[in-house]
Amino acid sequence: MSVLIRGGRIVTAADDYVADLYIEDETITLIGESIDMPADKVIDAAGKYVLPGCVDPHTHLDMPFGGTVTIDDVESGQTAAAFGGTTCHVDFIIQPQGQSFAAAFDEWRSKANGKQVIDMGYHMAVTDLKEGGTLEELASLPDQGVTSYKLFMAYKGALMVDDETLFRTMEVAARTGALVMVHAENGDAIDVLVKRALAEGKTEPKYHALTRPPETEGEATNRAIQLAHVAGAPLYVVHVSCKESVEPIAIARDKGWDVWGETCTQYFFIDYDFLERPNFEGAKYVYTPPPRDKANQGVLWNAVRTDVLSAISTDHCAFLWDGQKTIGKNDFSKIPNGGPGLENRLQMIHEFGVRTGRISLNRMVELLATNPARLFGLYPRKGTIAVGSDADLVIFDPEKQVTISAATQRSRSDYNLFEGTEVRGSPELVLLRGNVLVENDDLVASPGIGRFVKRARFGEELKPARAAVAP
Ligand code: URP
Ligand code: ZN
Ligand code: ZN
Repeated sequence: MSVLIRGGRIVTAADDYVADLYIEDETITLIGESIDMPADKVIDAAGKYVLPGCVDPHTHLDMPFGGTVTIDDVESGQTAAAFGGTTCHVDFIIQPQGQSFAAAFDEWRSKANGKQVIDMGYHMAVTDLKEGGTLEELASLPDQGVTSYKLFMAYKGALMVDDETLFRTMEVAARTGALVMVHAENGDAIDVLVKRALAEGKTEPKYHALTRPPETEGEATNRAIQLAHVAGAPLYVVHVSCKESVEPIAIARDKGWDVWGETCTQYFFIDYDFLERPNFEGAKYVYTPPPRDKANQGVLWNAVRTDVLSAISTDHCAFLWDGQKTIGKNDFSKIPNGGPGLENRLQMIHEFGVRTGRISLNRMVELLATNPARLFGLYPRKGTIAVGSDADLVIFDPEKQVTISAATQRSRSDYNLFEGTEVRGSPELVLLRGNVLVENDDLVASPGIGRFVKRARFGEELKPARAAVAP
């Protein structure tokens, strides 16, 4: 199967030029002016951007959490991703306490089997090194393409690990070449604040934020940074939401430490006030870390612009408002934490990052595709447009006007965090390894087309699937 994409504006993290692009057997084999090659399919991309398929390094599909299971499974979540221009993501396997990593890996792979619409990898969330997985087993995961370990420093009594588990995992990562990811919040302090609030009869959604002050995020971020430095492990701090967490990351990066940070789309747009919306609507915005004061939004734009933060993910962890969020109707601590977002990251960051001049088009590609691919061992197969790379591409129409709404989204959630937002610029055509996945409003490919990707170790490159062929 060969595809010729004609005359698009090719934008990568480093370049911006108009050219033709030729695809053979899932791989980009030629980029140049006026390519004259026979093709099974010709796509006219004049006036459009040709972007690398976006890579989302932080999603939760089909995940048991908060007394329920996320509403998007692999099929619906990845369909949403595809429509949003994301062609590869890295989801979390959660090690059930008392279980081996191998059992968890098998379980998550079989849940995804036959449902995959885009390519995917997995991080391993370590919850238990005492009764469950062993250090040796953890050390063997990178050989199977699982090259990142995630630890939750919050969610006491559920996913939270103690500092011993955190530090031991970091030591394993230092010798196996895995990247350590942390959900950085001080879970012990938050637990005290939550119990006190509930004892005082404070049950509404806004107390989710009021019991998780930004200092608890800043403290845990700094603790993780210092411990990772002692262990000699690279560290990636997920869903950074506030100045208190940005600052220690900036200090560590200034010193040249292997520390990286990510924020998520929602933290640029949703602030604490959303949690105060009446009639339990605030529950839609109960995710962790919580929406912060508006002043943090400028801090985050500045951080992604200056590379203090190096990636923007969605942390897609979708629930129904009606039927799942309502579990916490009388107790904010029982509201399942998380929100949808896989479908709108590119549209939102293009509209409010690029079109407002906060970041360049190249930087957008870097934050949404190239850096996630580099950090998580997918580059250069994913995350860029180059000869030899997978032909994961987004033909993006910079003039297409869209009003974001739950009524038209592919996620199964019954709400959208950005409801009613008008954007100019949206994917028109999305290709996965040269196969058309999405064309305007249609999913063209069938579930099953997506693959599990064995990722390279931190700092290593993922070899192209096939060697580049000379024309
Ligand atoms: O509220 C959130 N973010 N839910 C997903 C789990 C996590 O902490 O990333
Ligand atoms: Zn988290
Ligand atoms: Zn998450």
